[in-house]
Amino acid sequence: MEAGSGELDEEVVEELAAIKTVRGIVDWIVGSTAGGTEPSASTAAAALTGGSPVAVGSPVAVGSSPAVGSSPDLGSAVVGDPVGAIPLRRFVVEPEILPAPAGAAPTDLAGSRFLLVEGGLGVGLALATRLEQAGAEARILAADDAGLVDQIRAGAGADGLVWIASADPGADEHAILPGAFPALRAAALGGSRRVLIATGNGGRFGRARATATATGAPADPSAVDALEHARRADAGEFVVRPTPGAGLAGLVRTIAREVPGLALRLVDVEPKDEPRRIADSLLAELLTPGGPLVVGYREGARATLRVRPAGAGGAGSLPAGLGPSSVVLLTGGARGITAAVAVELARRSGCTVELIGRTLPPAGPEDPATAGAADAPALRRALIETGVRRPAEIEARVSRLLAEREVRATLATLRGLASSVRYHAVDVRDGAAVAAVVADVYARHGRLDGLVHGAGVLADRLLRDKTPESFDRVYRTKVDGARALLAAVRDDVGFVALFGSVAGVFGNRGQADYAAANDALDTLAGAAAGRFAGRIVSVDWGPWASPAAAGGGMVSAELAREYARRGIGLIDPADGVAALLSELAGPPDGPAQVVYMCAEAEAFDA
Ligand SMILES: NC(=O)c1ccc[n+]([C@@H]2O[C@H](COP(=O)([O-])OP(=O)(O)OC[C@H]3O[C@@H](n4cnc5c(N)ncnc54)[C@H](OP(=O)(O)O)[C@@H]3O)[C@@H](O)[C@H]2O)c1
Repeated sequence: MEAGSGELDEEVVEELAAIKTVRGIVDWIVGSTAGGTEPSASTAAAALTGGSPVAVGSPVAVGSSPAVGSSPDLGSAVVGDPVGAIPLRRFVVEPEILPAPAGAAPTDLAGSRFLLVEGGLGVGLALATRLEQAGAEARILAADDAGLVDQIRAGAGADGLVWIASADPGADEHAILPGAFPALRAAALGGSRRVLIATGNGGRFGRARATATATGAPADPSAVDALEHARRADAGEFVVRPTPGAGLAGLVRTIAREVPGLALRLVDVEPKDEPRRIADSLLAELLTPGGPLVVGYREGARATLRVRPAGAGGAGSLPAGLGPSSVVLLTGGARGITAAVAVELARRSGCTVELIGRTLPPAGPEDPATAGAADAPALRRALIETGVRRPAEIEARVSRLLAEREVRATLATLRGLASSVRYHAVDVRDGAAVAAVVADVYARHGRLDGLVHGAGVLADRLLRDKTPESFDRVYRTKVDGARALLAAVRDDVGFVALFGSVAGVFGNRGQADYAAANDALDTLAGAAAGRFAGRIVSVDWGPWASPAAAGGGMVSAELAREYARRGIGLIDPADGVAALLSELAGPPDGPAQVVYMCAEAEAFDA
């Protein structure tokens, strides 16, 4: 997973712009290539065909906070470690009933100050009453209050911030991610001693299967009435609304890793419950130290989520019915691990492959001035020799050239394997553009048999350094992209896979945005379960490896050792792709979230 994926991180640009001398530039280049912080030049297609390095991720963007760099990126692969030493395992994530919290008896809260961010459920009022009865001062504000962040910083919720607004199905954009990030960040970074966030997924994290809205699954996808689909789309039936609180669990898991002293809890509730009953559950969790980070309440029973080992995913090596006349759309599929999936799908089925990515397709062969430079350091030298001097420009051009090479290599491989290949240069955050691509696919082929949403970017920074803009970019690439795709595809699609990460399941330092985004994908997949003729599943990957043959790599041996020390192995690309295809060959009612990693869940307790 590449930091910024083709875009030069703004903070890198700032850093580079500040360097005034050629000596400084040289030092920067040497430093940025020596420490394992170079952006990925991943090519998963090349990985499978023995080309340049695969899809490796960066734990931090070039030149970013060393505090993050010391923590491995759980959503990215590294090179040069013992691939295959720990076998790839499949896990599911399920609710587990817990005893009621101990120590929830009425407490004397005299003199303490709580800030309640209320939605439309009326829970804030009920909770404020209880807090005031215990002697506390409780203020209620709305999530869209312009002074909210300042109030938090000034200590209005010094003893506790309770973010209730996100549990409301009608929550406005300030109450949910990414809009809620600045206020929650302020609370976590010193504004409050306790932070409790509520979500409204029914008290069991949305695990109850949604009622199917599909009218039936025709055997021949091309027989679906496109006009009927268009009519239902026009009527707004497929608008994928923000699920109450999506992504907040991933954020909470990451805050817990970055701010260990904070009393932190996410509580999933059923928004239709009595407000007083919800308030009782929230108060009990607010005043209970320790315990699981994420809990849910349904009809008074308390539960948490557990990651459990599960048997193999499917009974085949290819989604049912996939053949040369099938069509599969993959976002991010021209690069990285999603390209590896595209190549293998085409190899095994001969299907048509449609790809989405931002990199513009290269117009022709590469300029001879750089064509001989095999990797990023060589490209930097080649560009400097051609007279490019500004470091920011050098880095932007290196990133672009590597991305173009990767796209070119993937398309070349696919042309030899797929019935046909088309690449759409589109940003998945642009909902209208995504809808237009999907409509174009239906118009040309009359069908869509499978969808893989693999587009994603990293912009790792600790919370204290993470800007709302950067959070927004990482979050929206995954989540807005998924929503746009789910709104555009017809119900007869044969499978939908959303690529998530263990960062969402366990949290990871420096990845509040990425963890939240991946966690939101899990929620979106759960909410859409049952809608499609085929399977929808969010696949939370552990880190993938680059084959040794690919050589090079962006992550230091030190980082590889850190993974190994924690018992986290790297997914062999061939194993990862095979596991995915087998998962998608499973029954349509399989779990909406699976985790694949070369580790036990306990490895992430550290
Ligand atoms: N590699 C791992 O170890 C790992 C582990 C866990 C999860 N994952 C997940 O797997 C997926 C792929 O990861 P990767 O490591 O292969 O990453 P990568 O090499 O950086 O590839 C990311 C892909 O997403 C595309 N992309 C990024 N932003 C986009 C946007 N706004 N619109 C359209 N396309 C966009 C990129 O193409 P352009 O730059 O051309 O847009 C590229 O094709 C990600 O979702 C990641 O979270 C990977």
